[in-house]
Formats: sequence, structure tokens, C-alpha cells
Amino acid sequence: MRKKIVAGNWKMNKTFSEAETLITEIADSLDDVDLKDAEVILCPPSLYLEMTTDVAFESNFKVGAQNIYPEDAGAFTGEISPLMLKELNVAYCIIGHSERRKYFHETNEFLLRKVDSLLKHGLRPIFCCGEVLPEREASRHFEVVKSQVEESLFHLSAEAFLNVVIAYEPVWAIGTGVTATKEQAQEMHAYIRGLISARYDETTAWETSILYGGSCNGKNARELFSQPDVDGGLIGGASLNSVEFVQIATSF
Ligand code: 13P
Repeated sequence: MRKKIVAGNWKMNKTFSEAETLITEIADSLDDVDLKDAEVILCPPSLYLEMTTDVAFESNFKVGAQNIYPEDAGAFTGEISPLMLKELNVAYCIIGHSERRKYFHETNEFLLRKVDSLLKHGLRPIFCCGEVLPEREASRHFEVVKSQVEESLFHLSAEAFLNVVIAYEPVWAIGTGVTATKEQAQEMHAYIRGLISARYDETTAWETSILYGGSCNGKNARELFSQPDVDGGLIGGASLNSVEFVQIATSF
């Protein structure tokens, strides 16, 4: 059975003390709600990962990083490795976010290396894909997402692929307040599941969690998550508020 997942991508937000407060608030609130088997993942800036995993140890959520460099160690100033994250009990890592593709010029080929590096150490990639607005307007969104998924993930064996979570994040919906409609989300999620089925098999496709991201909030989460191929969300802005984030996490 595939997992329902709500992951909070904090991006580059919150000071140390603000992060401490938010983590505590979320942990306390999660104690009081019924998550119905859904998994909650917090992805704070890497500086706060140790503090977050310390709280997660006694709480109801898992921890993800926002980035890694695809080597175990070495002369890569400013970077962190999956080996370091593993020792901190970080379970997931966001890979291929559109902000990293755009500002740090990360290519599908480079992301393949990151995926392999994470899997080598038993961390699960949350692999982001999604088209920019001109690509959707030119009806190229399926083609774009297909190459992102194929070029960074489809070299994996079926067994390895089962550790990957996919997040469809149409770039025009990220931080804009313009959410994909439930029909647009469902259409793309079903398409991605079809790609997995064609490359691997129906069981692998059925077992893969595919999350939606892009202006998902406390008001629209339930409608989006009710779609048959939408298995939860990767939440940006709304994950910075404990009340709204926990509301989203209980929207299944
Ligand atoms: P917003 O929820 O702020 O639109 O961001 C989505 C996102 O980029 C999550 O990774």
C-alpha cells in the first residue's frame, strides 16, 4: 500500500529560535491528531536538521533535508553529504526542486547522481518535477515532466525505484497563490503513474507515492488529496505555520 505523505519544505526560512518554536509547536500538535497512517516529514534548512531529528525521535514525524552533494566526502566547500545526513537519522531529501534547477542550474543528469548517492546510503529522495508556465501554455507539460522523470530516475531498478517519492510541482503554482486545479493535478499524477507502469510494472506504479506541490494550503488540501492519484503534498509557505501545516497533514 502506498503511503500518504505531507512534507513541509521550509526553504530558506526561520532563524534558529523561530525554527525551534515551530518544530515544538508541530510536534505538540501532531500528538493530538489522528494522522490516519499518513506520514509527516519536516524539511528544515540543514543547520536545523540535528535539532529536528532530536525532536522527531520522540514524536510523530520524519525528517528530510532540502539538498545534498552527490559524494560521500571531499573538497566540496559549503556542501553536505548523504553520509552526514544518515548519521543524523535524516530519512528523506528533496531533490530537483525547481528553485535548485533555476538558481543553481541543476540538470536532470546531475540529479541522477544525487538520487543514486541518496539511495546508496538508504535515504529516500523526494524527487520534484514540473513545468514552467510557458511550457504549459505550449501544451508541453507532459513532455517536460516525462524527460525529468525518465532522465533522473528510470535508470533505477524497480526495487530501488520503490524508495523514491515523486512530487509534481508545476512551477507556475509555486509561491504564487495559483494552485493547480484538482483536475490538472490528477491528470498529471495519473500520467506520471502511467510512465512508471510502462517503465516498470503496475505494482511499482501503484506503490509509488506522488505528491502535489504548489500553493497547497489548509483550504485546498482536502480537495487535492481526494484525487485518486494524489497521495499528499509537498508544502512550502503553508508549512511555516504550525496550525495550517497540521491542518494540511490531517486533510486525508
Ligand atoms: P508553496 O507551497 O509556497 O507554493 O511552495 C511549494 C514548494 O515549492 C514546495 O516544495
